[in-house]
Amino acid sequence: MPQADTSQEAAIRQAAQLLLAAEYVTALTGAGISVESGIPPFRGPGGLWTKYGEPPMDGYQRFLQDPKKAWEERLAPSGASQEIRDTIARAEPNPGHYAFVKLEELGVLRWLITQNVDNLHRRAGSRNLLEIHGNSTLVRCLNCTARFPLAVISFDVLPPRCLQCNGILKNDTVAFGEPIPGDVLEQCWRVAGHCDCMIVAGTSATVTPAAYFPMQVRERGGTLIEVNLYESEITQFCTVSLRGQAGELLHALAQTVQTLRKF
Ligand code: APR
Repeated sequence: MPQADTSQEAAIRQAAQLLLAAEYVTALTGAGISVESGIPPFRGPGGLWTKYGEPPMDGYQRFLQDPKKAWEERLAPSGASQEIRDTIARAEPNPGHYAFVKLEELGVLRWLITQNVDNLHRRAGSRNLLEIHGNSTLVRCLNCTARFPLAVISFDVLPPRCLQCNGILKNDTVAFGEPIPGDVLEQCWRVAGHCDCMIVAGTSATVTPAAYFPMQVRERGGTLIEVNLYESEITQFCTVSLRGQAGELLHALAQTVQTLRKF
C-alpha cells in the first residue's frame, strides 16, 4: 500500500472522530462540491470568472433600475450566465452531495449552509439546508420575500409579479451588490453560533458573509475540517484539511463516520 494513501485514510479517520466528538456539526459548501457534477467553479483553474472575468459588481442596482430589461437579459443569457444555466440544467447530484445527506440521516450533521445556487443539495435530499446565495430554480419577491418555483410563474409580462402581494419578482439568486435576504442570513448566523465543528467543502472562503462563518466557529474554540482540491484562505485555521476531489473524500468521510459510530 503506497504511503500517501495511509496518511489520507488517517486524516479521514481523524476528521470522522472529530465529527463524532462534536456537539453541533454544520457544514459550509461552495462551487467546488459541484465540479464533479459538471458545473465549473468561479475562481482558480477552469473558473468562470477566470474565463469570462468577474461580473459587474452592480448587478442588483441594474435590476432595480430596469427590472423588465434585467429579466429580458436573464431569459436570453449569454457568456458566463449561459454557461452557468446550461451546466446547472444538465447537472446531477454527486457522491459529495449524498455524503451530506448521509451525515444528516446519521444525526451527525445539524445544518448545511451552501453558497451554491444549483439546487443540487436539495435534489440530493438535504433537509436542514440554508442557501445563502439563493436558488436558481426559484424567484423571490422584493417586497414580501415570498419565494416561488420558476415553473409556477408566468413570464408573459415582465417583470413577473408576486402571487401574494403583486410585488416585483427577481430570480432568487443573490446578485452582486444585493444584500443577503434577512431571513436566510439570520438563520445562518444562528446556526454558526451554535456550531463547534464545521466541515468546509469546495469553497475558496473568499466571499463574505459566508466566509465569516468558519472563522466565527474557530474564534469560539470550534474545529474546522476542510475538503478542497487546493489550499484555500482558511486551510491554516483547519484542524484537518483533506486534499482531493470533494465527492470521493466526503463519501469516504461519511462511510468512516458510519463505521466508527457502530463501535
Ligand atoms: N473538489 C474539491 N474542491 C474543489 C474541486 C473539487 N473537485 N474543484 C474546485 N475545488 C475548490 C477550489 O480549490 C476552490 O477553493 O473549490 C473552491 C471553489 O472556489 P470558488 O470558485 O471561489 O467558489 P466559491 O467559494 O463557492 O465562491 C463563493 O463567489 O462568485 C461568487 O456567488 C458566487 O457563491 C459564489 C461565491
